[in-house]
Amino acid sequence: MRIVLGVGGGIAAYKVASLLRLFTEAGHNVTVIPTEAANRFVGVATWEALSGNPVSNSVFDDVPSVNHVRLGHEADLIVVAPATADLLARAAGGHANDLLTNTLLMASGPVLMAPAMHTEMWLHAATQANVEKLRSRGVTVLEPASGRLTGSDSGPGRLPEPDAIFAAALALMQGNAVPGQLPLAGRTVTISAGGTREPLDPVRFLGNRSSGKQGVALAVAARDAGASVRLLAAHMDVPAPAGVEVVRVETALQLREAALRAAADSDVVIMAAAVADFRPAEVSDTKIKKRDDTADPVINLLRNPDILHELVEVRAAGRPGQLIVGFAAETGDAEGDVLDHAEAKLRKKGCDLLVVNHVGEGLVFGQDNNSVVILSRTGSEPQSASGSKDEVAAAVIDRISSELSRVFPRA
Ligand code: CTP
Repeated sequence: MRIVLGVGGGIAAYKVASLLRLFTEAGHNVTVIPTEAANRFVGVATWEALSGNPVSNSVFDDVPSVNHVRLGHEADLIVVAPATADLLARAAGGHANDLLTNTLLMASGPVLMAPAMHTEMWLHAATQANVEKLRSRGVTVLEPASGRLTGSDSGPGRLPEPDAIFAAALALMQGNAVPGQLPLAGRTVTISAGGTREPLDPVRFLGNRSSGKQGVALAVAARDAGASVRLLAAHMDVPAPAGVEVVRVETALQLREAALRAAADSDVVIMAAAVADFRPAEVSDTKIKKRDDTADPVINLLRNPDILHELVEVRAAGRPGQLIVGFAAETGDAEGDVLDHAEAKLRKKGCDLLVVNHVGEGLVFGQDNNSVVILSRTGSEPQSASGSKDEVAAAVIDRISSELSRVFPRA
């Protein structure tokens, strides 16, 4: 793999020489980009000798090959260690005043930052806000280790050990959760759950048998994975969990409005709600009375918008990094089995992942157990998960986390 190793200007820069060795011994091709301040701590010759590659920190060196563009595009991973307070601030602010910050702006793969600084600097509101901003964009910022710092002080702020940074880097390159990091930290996940109810009159509605259990289990799993969760709750038989923002909706049209609004700042949207495909064309303001003298009543239905499909279309216009997940309840029939129908639905809806339930007599709706297959738009092998709805939710959230860590940048 090609790795760019950005080195910030802190005393911990000397430990990064060991990290570089770990990368090269594992067979990775590493280009080191020190900041100007880093050169005061460790000389360029050290990086060149250990990496076997030329080292520069200026966009004006080797201008014809436009280094920052090439390095940013080609890198499978960018690691910044030590990420000083100043470097975190410059990266969070989108500055481009040296080769490393230019390269970070060009990054098309994951970015890992290992901070090191004095405790007061790390805990300062400005640094914490910068870290939060970077994490919300999908950058993995490790927590600094705690212990003896450069002077007589000690506390959180030590550079994590090279082994720990190396393990985190490997996990990121393989699309796995980084040890010690919550996989959805800094992400916003919107989940719709339950069944919509389409009113006929003030007391009657057309509804469905969705209990909301699977959507709620997903909300819990996403919350526990560190995400900020927004639950768009249609009718549910179970209470909404603590620690998530709840938006109550009743009809498909209300859900559509809430989903489009929530999607505008979400990294992930999961449509687990059972949305009514049709609604009564007329909703009576007063209770519809049965009358002996009239013919049997007829309910005219209008088609509801396909919210999932619309979310995919809206994303195409402005949020390329967003991950959209649909659910499908399918039965086999004369035209194909459950998977045939599910694959056709995935193509029709255009979402990234489709979680497919096999429904039938007594299966899925309102039950505590579930068995699903996760299909991906990229065509990777279908993945099965079964067990309690909590176990299925954990598998779906795991899959979402690893899909997310593959794509960068996020909005
Ligand atoms: N969905 C949606 N808007 C609708 C209907 C469904 O967003 N009006 C979403 C559901 O939340 C689910 C996915 O689409 O994530 C699949 O829903 P499903 O009802 O199984 O598919 P349909 O499009 O209704 O297809 P069909 O009725 O032909 O099975």
